[in-house]
Amino acid sequence: MRFLPDSREPRVAIVGFGYVGCCLGVTLAEQGLHVTGIDRDARLIAQLEEGRCHISEPGLAEALTRLRGTSRLAFSTGYDAIEGADVIVIAVGTPIGEDRSLVTRQLEEVCAELAPRLRRGHLVVLKSTVAPGTTRGLVRPRLETGGLVQGDDFGLVFCPERLSEGNALSELRALPIIVGGCDPESTHSATEFWKRALDVPAWEYTSPEVAEIVKLADNWWIDHNIALANDLARLCDAFHVDVLEVIGGANSLPKGGGHVNILLPSVGVGGYCLTKDPWITWNAAREHGVRLRTVETVRAVNDAMPGYTHETICAELARAGRHPDGAKVAVLGAAFKNNTGDLRSTPVKPVVDGLLAAGVTVSLHDPLADAEELRALTGVEPSASLEEAVAGAHCLAVLAGHEPFQQLDFAALRERVSTPCLIFDGRAYYPQETIEHVRRLGFTYRGIGR
Ligand SMILES: NC(=O)c1ccc[n+]([C@@H]2O[C@H](COP(=O)([O-])OP(=O)(O)OC[C@H]3O[C@@H](n4cnc5c(N)ncnc54)[C@H](O)[C@@H]3O)[C@@H](O)[C@H]2O)c1
Repeated sequence: MRFLPDSREPRVAIVGFGYVGCCLGVTLAEQGLHVTGIDRDARLIAQLEEGRCHISEPGLAEALTRLRGTSRLAFSTGYDAIEGADVIVIAVGTPIGEDRSLVTRQLEEVCAELAPRLRRGHLVVLKSTVAPGTTRGLVRPRLETGGLVQGDDFGLVFCPERLSEGNALSELRALPIIVGGCDPESTHSATEFWKRALDVPAWEYTSPEVAEIVKLADNWWIDHNIALANDLARLCDAFHVDVLEVIGGANSLPKGGGHVNILLPSVGVGGYCLTKDPWITWNAAREHGVRLRTVETVRAVNDAMPGYTHETICAELARAGRHPDGAKVAVLGAAFKNNTGDLRSTPVKPVVDGLLAAGVTVSLHDPLADAEELRALTGVEPSASLEEAVAGAHCLAVLAGHEPFQQLDFAALRERVSTPCLIFDGRAYYPQETIEHVRRLGFTYRGIGR
């Protein structure tokens, strides 16, 4: 059976309208499809209905404004829209528990809501990141409790979401989609859906398990590669060389059809995905008697970076004759990544904790992050402005390299800070000219691996 209408554009329901669901829903609606976003979070749905959105992603608020008043994007806390939809996308959260295994509660709740509402011809697309075997072993039997048979009556595929925060809306229109269906007809229908909906290449795989592992492999690679960059940075610190010079040189080597591609070191790895997906992989392997030592090592390396950061800042302050107890550090940028306001599992939080524990007075400024959220996370009252944050500081620690921090007027800042003052570059990757410029102004400069 084919799981897609021939004669008209498919109508889409997205269950779980958080970060991924909302970015995808807005993109599909802008492509002309009729989309309903379903989420149990009544506050989120009320905000969206008023045309507001707390989700920080470049272009998302503007797109929501453009779509307001059109019939292409609707929101609901209920599941009524399922009946009229052709394609149902599931994008709920998949956190990990204390034992680092996947917590499937949100997924199970969604399946319980969907099962009695499924009708013949529906195509269900799972986008949430899951352990191998979840689509076939957990989602399929739960959806079948409604009486329909997967493959005969409804289609089911796993299509991982691989967008990266900060570039989500452009990546959704460009990244190839991985499609792994529970049966060939589900796979073909989903491939056609993505091609028609987003005009992107769709790569068909023979099973949902392949697609599930593709997603985990991507994030495993990224986490792994950042750990290499972080260890390289600590090595470069020991030898007083600039890690960016080393990475530039190392990446010139052709290898495996591309080039060596070492990513950038930083204050640490955070966010919703890289801090949990490698553990989902590790735990799934463990349950099958396989020990993934690289995951253990890589997670330990990246988790140690916030500690390395606050220890380095304190050591630099001490070298300049300033005991940390009594020093002021202005932390500029608190999000887990440049140019996003997302504070989920941000490595800046343990840096702030470490500085406070050392007796440092910390001020905080992040123009993209929600001030209330930042206060609740760190216990520090965020400064209203950059000027307020830096006043009298002995160190400016740029820990998220947001666009505005690339253009800082260091000459003007010099007038506001204490002397001597350290610029600590946790993620801004200031070029050599900027480093020379700030040194001429009388700042000292230190970065991760620089
Ligand atoms: N954030 C990313 O950059 C990213 C990238 C790729 C993949 N992913 C994966 O996508 C999935 C979603 O991630 P996210 O960042 O959008 O999470 P999120 O927490 O922002 O969104 C999940 C949404 O699901 C809703 N929800 C939970 N249970 C529900 C239910 N029973 N019925 C209706 N709604 C329900 C929540 O209220 C929430 O709004 C996760 O599996 C994640 O690993 C995330």
